[in-house]
Amino acid sequence: MRSILLAGVLGLAITASAAAASDQAVFGPSLSPYDSSDIPSSLRPKRRPLKGRFLHITDIHPDPHYKTGATFESGCHRKNKSKKGKGKALEHVAEQAERIDEDEVDDDDEMEVEKKKKDKNGVDLAGEWGTAVSKCDTPMSLVNITFDWLKKEWKDEVDFIVWTGDNARHDIDRSLPRSTSEIYKLNRMIVSKMLDTFGTDIPIVPSIGNNDIWPHNVMAAGPSKLTEEFLHIWGKFIPPDFAHVFERGAYYSSEVIPDRLAVISLNTLFWYDSNTLVDGCGDHSNDPGALEMDWLDVQLSNFRDRGMQVWLTGHVPPHMGYYYDNCYLRYGDLALRYQDTIVGHLFGHMNIDHFFFIDVDELESTPVARPKSKARSKKNFSPLTANLSSLPSLETRFSSDGRVITFGGGDTLKEELKKDFQDMPSGKNLKLKDYVAINVAASVIPTYLPGVRVFSYNISGLGDERNEDYFYQPHHNGSLLEDDEEELGDEAEYEEDDDVEITKKKDRRPGHRHGKKPKDDCNKVENEDKPHCVFKRKPRYYSKQSPSRSNRALSPLGYTQFYLPRLSKQSETPNWEIEYTTYKKDMLLPNPGNGNGNGNESQIQTDQSVQPLPIPLHLLPEFDDSLFDDNSETVKGDAEIQKKKSKFEKALKRITPWKMSDLTIPNYIKLSRKLVGDKDMWDKFQELM
Ligand SMILES: *[C@@H]1O[C@H](CO)[C@@H](O)[C@H](O)[C@H]1NC(C)=O
Ligand SMILES: *[C@@H]1O[C@H](CO)[C@@H](O)[C@H](O)[C@H]1NC(C)=O
Ligand SMILES: *[C@@H]1O[C@H](CO)[C@@H](O)[C@H](O)[C@H]1NC(C)=O
Ligand SMILES: *[C@@H]1O[C@H](CO)[C@@H](O)[C@H](O)[C@H]1NC(C)=O
Ligand SMILES: *[C@@H]1O[C@H](CO)[C@@H](O)[C@H](O)[C@H]1NC(C)=O
Ligand SMILES: *[C@@H]1O[C@H](CO)[C@@H](O)[C@H](O)[C@H]1NC(C)=O
Repeated sequence: MRSILLAGVLGLAITASAAAASDQAVFGPSLSPYDSSDIPSSLRPKRRPLKGRFLHITDIHPDPHYKTGATFESGCHRKNKSKKGKGKALEHVAEQAERIDEDEVDDDDEMEVEKKKKDKNGVDLAGEWGTAVSKCDTPMSLVNITFDWLKKEWKDEVDFIVWTGDNARHDIDRSLPRSTSEIYKLNRMIVSKMLDTFGTDIPIVPSIGNNDIWPHNVMAAGPSKLTEEFLHIWGKFIPPDFAHVFERGAYYSSEVIPDRLAVISLNTLFWYDSNTLVDGCGDHSNDPGALEMDWLDVQLSNFRDRGMQVWLTGHVPPHMGYYYDNCYLRYGDLALRYQDTIVGHLFGHMNIDHFFFIDVDELESTPVARPKSKARSKKNFSPLTANLSSLPSLETRFSSDGRVITFGGGDTLKEELKKDFQDMPSGKNLKLKDYVAINVAASVIPTYLPGVRVFSYNISGLGDERNEDYFYQPHHNGSLLEDDEEELGDEAEYEEDDDVEITKKKDRRPGHRHGKKPKDDCNKVENEDKPHCVFKRKPRYYSKQSPSRSNRALSPLGYTQFYLPRLSKQSETPNWEIEYTTYKKDMLLPNPGNGNGNGNESQIQTDQSVQPLPIPLHLLPEFDDSLFDDNSETVKGDAEIQKKKSKFEKALKRITPWKMSDLTIPNYIKLSRKLVGDKDMWDKFQELM
């Protein structure tokens, strides 16, 4: 522990080697983390060492009907056959086709068609490993190589798995409609892939997606056949204590590191405004969305009392464009009020890699239409997105097949994000405690290119002798906003860093961002969910010391986005590669001194027993064993090594565009400033989206 402290004091970044880390016994996730709650932690058996990493995977969308060489029009299900063959294909009934389709390319006519088509238009037919930027779903070949790779590289390298839904194909093919039983079957198939890949001793936390139900998007309050079925399908993942809650609402919590870290799996469909069977989150109502919020409030409060940290996870991101207004407000309220307990927010659904903020000002400006109407119009956007003429693709984002249309929507999203980032107050005017960041991950389905994400988090103090010093202990009772109180103390002010080069933008929307405008009357029922009203009734828990605000035990340190480029190269199996990471270059290497002269060899030894590297070294691009050879001194002059070294350095530079020291809120805000302050950065951000 002494050495850890030294490292902390010296401000060294990650310097560990995985091998050294595993020498130290650490409490890892249990076989079944939930059934040991009665056993005092000191008596629990020692388990696999924590690796300080977890996986976020989302939107797999397997499609067993996918056929290489099929046309896009058929949803990649059928080739253009000769006339007689075609009728037959259309008679294909869904139930019959519920199996992996082994039809091979067997007649010359088809080959002819495929060839011609390709000659004319390039990649116009379904590719062997999936088809990027098409509306087709994920072929089994892609599902297989994804899980094969996860098994090979990550099985023993992650502590738990966040899995945010949509494990069935879309309803894009009218001649091959989905059925309930097919959806369950596909979900079971992915569950067995998960178990085959990771075994049963890594906690896996699935959540339900809008395409995991039939018809898509619409889900009524449970208990129902649906919730019972998923309780069954996810039997291994749902703690028995939560079975009843799950039957009612398909949400639950999972203690992925007992007594330390929990993942809450939310059912976002009760909040999703495309779900016409529910009616939002009205306070004191019995809407399933409101009951889920009540439950979440209690969960957060309990975890907070136990000094634990929590990841909130689910399918549809908490964005005003997708949630019922009052659900969005209540989510934002909980996210802000329990910010000392929530380490982060992980969602899927969009198939676009991005992050955004929920902040107090935005919540204040969310119009709440009451009485709530089921026929919500999309005009209930904040001023940021209210201009419908600049959102041409908004309606099509919610297409009838349950798919998020992202091709046009992506542009809209980019504009919205840019505006949002630009409009943030600067310097001391920005209050950190008013912000939370929401992460939306890229999908496995190749809407663009297939993606999965590996996060790392700080595991200091989680070793054999748990050192409480490393943990944030919620000590404040929380604060209630007094009537005249605009701001509280210095706790959460944001200080600009030297490395943030932006033109200072003063409040560009006077009256909006800075609350000079009189606040809405809290006595009116329609305003009761507005932050300034809630903060008067309920405590807001914040602290600069909490893991979402400063780097300490359980803080998210960064993530690595993996992807499958070159999907369309038919000849070879595509390889999962690093698209980018959030880290600084030195954080990826065992030796911070390597390359930039900052390091000190004798200090570097210190942190090794604690934090493994965010990515196993051999996964880095252009990695070569000889680069980390202990005897490198003797071969330093070797021109070949030098060449490799410079290639490696270049590759590292390419995958570290954001250079974030961790994923705490101050660094997210810093990143958003850099993005809008530098055109190259913004272009890069868009490209990665
Ligand atoms: C497939 O055949 C249909 C009808 O014969 C035709 O309309 C369509 O353009 C063809 N599509 C491709 C991709 O060749
Ligand atoms: C995918 O893997 C499963 C199980 O290993 C296998 O049965 C199936 O044939 C594979 N499918 C493809 C298209 O590779
Ligand atoms: C709305 O957006 C359109 C297109 O971007 C623009 O021409 C128009 O001026 C905007 N209207 C308002 C009120 O901002
Ligand atoms: C704050 O918490 C402490 C300890 O939990 C308690 O003794 C004290 O009464 C609380 N103060 C308020 C104002 O609630
Ligand atoms: C983890 O948090 C501790 C403080 O608890 C800090 O000293 C250390 O540098 C952090 N580790 C990493 C890898 O950032
Ligand atoms: C490296 O650190 C050690 C111990 O802290 C110190 O004695 C030494 O002078 C440092 N070397 C350099 C080059 O800074």
